Amino acid sequence: MKTQVAVIGAGPAGMLLSEMLARAGIETVVLERQSRDHVLGRIRAGVLEQSTVEVLTRLGLADRLQAEGHVHDGMKIVWSGRSSFFIDCATHVGKRFTAYGQTRIQEDLFLAADRRDAQIEFEAEDLTLDGLDSAEPLISYRVGGQVRQLRCDFIAGCDGFHGVSRRSVPAGVLREYEKIYPFGWLGVLAPTPPLSEIVYANHPRGFALASMRNPQLARFYVQVPLSDSVDDWPDERFWPELIARFPPELAADIRPAPPVEKSIAPLRSFVTEPMQFGRLFLAGDAAHIVPPTGAKGLNLAVSDVTYLGRALASFYRTGHRTELDGYSTIALRRVWHSVRTSWYLTNLLHRFPEATDFDQRAQEYELEFLKATPSAQRALAEQYAGLPIEGSLAFLDALA
Ligand code: APR
Ligand code: PHB
Repeated sequence: MKTQVAVIGAGPAGMLLSEMLARAGIETVVLERQSRDHVLGRIRAGVLEQSTVEVLTRLGLADRLQAEGHVHDGMKIVWSGRSSFFIDCATHVGKRFTAYGQTRIQEDLFLAADRRDAQIEFEAEDLTLDGLDSAEPLISYRVGGQVRQLRCDFIAGCDGFHGVSRRSVPAGVLREYEKIYPFGWLGVLAPTPPLSEIVYANHPRGFALASMRNPQLARFYVQVPLSDSVDDWPDERFWPELIARFPPELAADIRPAPPVEKSIAPLRSFVTEPMQFGRLFLAGDAAHIVPPTGAKGLNLAVSDVTYLGRALASFYRTGHRTELDGYSTIALRRVWHSVRTSWYLTNLLHRFPEATDFDQRAQEYELEFLKATPSAQRALAEQYAGLPIEGSLAFLDALA
């Protein structure tokens, strides 16, 4: 087979890019290792920056998001023994964010793909990438035991942290930056009313987070040791521990209910530079991972593919590679701001096993400073609400 842009990965990054390129009249084939149902079965993030909502809205993909999404002015920070404070993004920077599950976005993207009869090869196995720095890269893979080959002009590596794309770049080309945190998050999705706000809690027993998917579906997280597994956290242990980490006036509104999903994810920060090699462009988790503390993962995937989609549309329209050659530089600016913010919030809100008394005191005074200093809250609001996606988004209107 031959196509213009081969997209590896049918997650949010791959499907949104495929949608943008199709609107620009650019042919794509998406190669996805898992089945469609497996991709749809993932429970992931749920907070969309205003720029993410704008991209989806301009593409006409935000109808259900506008109907079901829960718009927030900001988020609350509480920590044991002291009063809470609210980081008001709406007041500080005039931006709001929307609680809307990534699963919903995945469904919306697959429905849009069905409407355009998109070429998606699910259960594509054993992908190998060749000729990344040639004029016609080649992807070999197997579907249903049959070996296939796909020639293309460009490859978009949207295959997540464990994908094949980044690993296919010759050794010595990429520089990787990584930080592994000494804990994970146990996430629970439960059919029970959520708290009214997104609340981050710093407690001596560990970090906790209260979020939501809709008025009847709450999303909660607690920091757990890396050595823990889901089996160590039966419901009768999880709920009292979550409740213990919130102040009484908030804990009173947490009503335990049998979860519909429970999983543990380790926390890491990771960035690869550059985010491109020859005709391969990395986007989303394939290029970077953020700890979920800043709710940035999905939003970075959206900004990456917006930059990449705009650059590819420019190439096929004009024949010039200028925007494509600048993709990594422009994408990494927003990536590193989000990576730093996620790192800052993770250090601010978690209890680190190796923390000294000094570390703990310093953390408490960072919280005191943030609570007492409007300019510090504004700076955090600016980052949490998400920096602008650089350049014009008008190309999205043209696509729609
Ligand atoms: N071949 C084909 N597909 C692959 C391969 C491979 N070798 N490896 C991984 N994939 C697929 C995965 O099955 C997955 O569906 O690539 C897709 C990558 O999707 P995500 O991991 O969701 O990454 P991305 O689209 O960048 O979205 C980032 O998802 O993981 C969350 O927290 C993250 O919210 C963020 C968002
Ligand atoms: C979520 O709703 O899943 C969520 C909210 C805020 C975060 C991370 C996850 O920082």
